[in-house]
Amino acid sequence: MAPMAVALILGWCLVAASRAQQLPPPSLSLHPSQGVSLGDTVTLRCHLPQPAAWVELYRYQNPTYIEQKDNVQDISEFSLTGIKQVDAVRYQCQYQGLEPVGTSQKSDPVELLVTDDRYPPPGISLSPKEHVEMGSNITIQCWNKKYGAAFLLHKDGHSAPIQHQEPDDGGTATFTLFGVTPADSGTYRCSYRIRGCCLLFSPLGDNVTLEVIPRPAPPGVNGGPSRKLVAAVSGACAAAIVIIIVLTASLLLVAQRRQMQSDLRPGDTSRSPEAVQFQVSPGDSEGLIYAQLQAVTPSTHPHGTSTTPEPPTIYAEVGMGGPR
Ligand SMILES: *[C@@H]1O[C@H](CO)[C@@H](O)[C@H](O)[C@H]1NC(C)=O
Ligand SMILES: *[C@@H]1O[C@H](CO)[C@@H](O)[C@H](O)[C@H]1NC(C)=O
Repeated sequence: MAPMAVALILGWCLVAASRAQQLPPPSLSLHPSQGVSLGDTVTLRCHLPQPAAWVELYRYQNPTYIEQKDNVQDISEFSLTGIKQVDAVRYQCQYQGLEPVGTSQKSDPVELLVTDDRYPPPGISLSPKEHVEMGSNITIQCWNKKYGAAFLLHKDGHSAPIQHQEPDDGGTATFTLFGVTPADSGTYRCSYRIRGCCLLFSPLGDNVTLEVIPRPAPPGVNGGPSRKLVAAVSGACAAAIVIIIVLTASLLLVAQRRQMQSDLRPGDTSRSPEAVQFQVSPGDSEGLIYAQLQAVTPSTHPHGTSTTPEPPTIYAEVGMGGPR
């Protein structure tokens, strides 16, 4: 009995402990997030989903924290001044929740990319040429054999690099832009991550400029005027056909109505037995039209026959009209 109780208590403790561990992680942001150079100051903001007893800033995968702040409501700020090479790493933060109590998971890591202007910028080239037609494949090569560990391709107007590549054995990275469009026009530069270190980067190098010429309009547009003429003529023809159809239909309708009216004339024995006439009272102020229907049942049989007349069938349409 005793071992079982111990096991139960232990189990409860484990569950409680794991619950306490499951506080949602905070999120970490960098300010500024781009263009940080050695010697600069950056601020790391840890955003908490709930008030915390403390917040700690860590280097990624480093078990000891850099700095701790107590009693934080929602955001904790950490400043790194005079950035050095060793600061160019990933960071995470973590907090101790007040209610519920427990330690949060660590935030997703953020990268502090630092530029070291003491390294030479990479070389850059563009092929086949700077002015190309739409749909061409363009390659941009960047190189630095001595220090380049990985290369980044930057485009002016974009805050983040648009591509990254590992260099070949000669220290050259090749970026390819497949089937370029005018949106690919612009100014490109490269930088590289410095071999043997952290998140330390070279300065941006020289630029290359790409201009993508929109493809000449497809054939047929040169014959524009004649095309327009064809379109106009066919449009007019279509309109004429529609008018003819509408006219014919209305003529047919009119003819049919005439026929029906003559069928309804009293004394005409050829009229259909279902045909009735009713009088409709004008609509009242509510806009409703009540129809008082008086069926005038035409008899298909001459007077004096013994056949009992069938009750008339009345089809009434009650309309909703506006006040008159
Ligand atoms: C661009 O590269 C792709 C893939 O290599 C190739 O299929 C295509 O033909 C190339 N286009 C041109 C215009 O060279
Ligand atoms: C690109 O570099 C050339 C010199 O190589 C310079 O004259 C030009 O201003 C640069 N363009 C941009 C957009 O920086």
